[in-house]
Amino acid sequence: MKQPVRIAVTGAAGNISYSLLFKIAAGEMLGPDQPVILQLVEIPQAMDKLRGVAMELEDCAFPLVHGISLHDNPFDGFRGIHYAMLVGARPRSKGMERADLLEANAVIFAEQGKALNEVANRDVKALVVGNPANTNCLILSRNAPNLAPSQFCAMTRLDHNRALGILGNKLGVNPSDIDGVCVWGNHSPTMYPDLHHAQVLGDEAAIDMIDEKWYKDEYTPRIQKRGAEIIEWRGLSSAASAAQAALDHMHDWALGSDGRVVSMGIISDGSYGVAKGIYYSFPVLCEFGSYQIIQNLHINDYGQAMMKKTEQELLEEKAAVDHLLPKETAASREELGTSSRSGQTEFDAGIDTGESYYKADRIC
Ligand SMILES: NC(=O)c1ccc[n+]([C@@H]2O[C@H](COP(=O)([O-])OP(=O)(O)OC[C@H]3O[C@@H](n4cnc5c(N)ncnc54)[C@H](O)[C@@H]3O)[C@@H](O)[C@H]2O)c1
Repeated sequence: MKQPVRIAVTGAAGNISYSLLFKIAAGEMLGPDQPVILQLVEIPQAMDKLRGVAMELEDCAFPLVHGISLHDNPFDGFRGIHYAMLVGARPRSKGMERADLLEANAVIFAEQGKALNEVANRDVKALVVGNPANTNCLILSRNAPNLAPSQFCAMTRLDHNRALGILGNKLGVNPSDIDGVCVWGNHSPTMYPDLHHAQVLGDEAAIDMIDEKWYKDEYTPRIQKRGAEIIEWRGLSSAASAAQAALDHMHDWALGSDGRVVSMGIISDGSYGVAKGIYYSFPVLCEFGSYQIIQNLHINDYGQAMMKKTEQELLEEKAAVDHLLPKETAASREELGTSSRSGQTEFDAGIDTGESYYKADRIC
């Protein structure tokens, strides 16, 4: 029997978590042989609701769940964790300006970064789901100087899965018959769903099977604005699909993507000319608990313009929260190099080997 791993979930009483927690507990994220301890984190006002969710988890009698603890602050909730699913965030309230939203979330993620830095297991993997996910992830990482920037990701897997699902539907194939789809940039309506490298059933180029006008004028905006479309029809924002995407992201990061291309919001090392130091969605392959950016893809003029636009938005978001980014972590995040030979991204280690390191019997 493997040792249990500790997984923190923030926003644990919210909509996404109401799907996510039960999937994690059932073993869908880390496998049916991996016991888990769930450390659930909420704001103080939501602790009663969280207790109700925890009762339901208990009532499922999941054999893999070896413990559930409830916390109203990240310094307790992140103690010893191996995985952080950061779902909780401040939603946009009526009349709130975009800059105010960025700043309100910056405060939350700065504190959570400090908590991860101080109390999490040294090899923790942290996934930011709460929006604005990429910039929240930047703030998180910059506030955790003793952890490597590659230990943090922003979730763009929902956009990736949407891109696969909607394309599969159009072509009349199963989404699993398509590989090489990727989403570049920000998790926002500027993201660029790129089909130029996608293959169907292993040998046919997806881009040759669709009409260019459909791709640019219907498909792309549909992926970019899918969240709003769901709200329009369902009356609520995407929750189950976001939970599935978070699960897929962490599963592949920890256990490997099995040779399939996936999209992850990761620290830019300058690949494809993207500004270093921002969290930008790239196509990656995952293996042995880490990811590699796929290098040397040919990007046409249309793609370059799309990639620049979403990069520009991320740089603007970064500028808006710049005063909250600790200066001492700028260099370690912005001076990453790309390896010319393997295409593998190199990161500074950033891990202090002197600190406690609880290595459970698990793959990553
Ligand atoms: N990256 C993506 O693809 C993606 C997709 C869908 C939703 N989202 C985002 O995920 C987030 C959660 O969505 P939801 O539908 O579950 O929202 P929700 O409002 O139902 O739940 C959010 C929960 O987070 C909690 N919370 C707020 N601040 C917190 C903090 N500082 N610490 C701990 N918990 C905190 C709230 O109390 C609430 O229970 C939102 O920001 C949403 O925009 C991202």
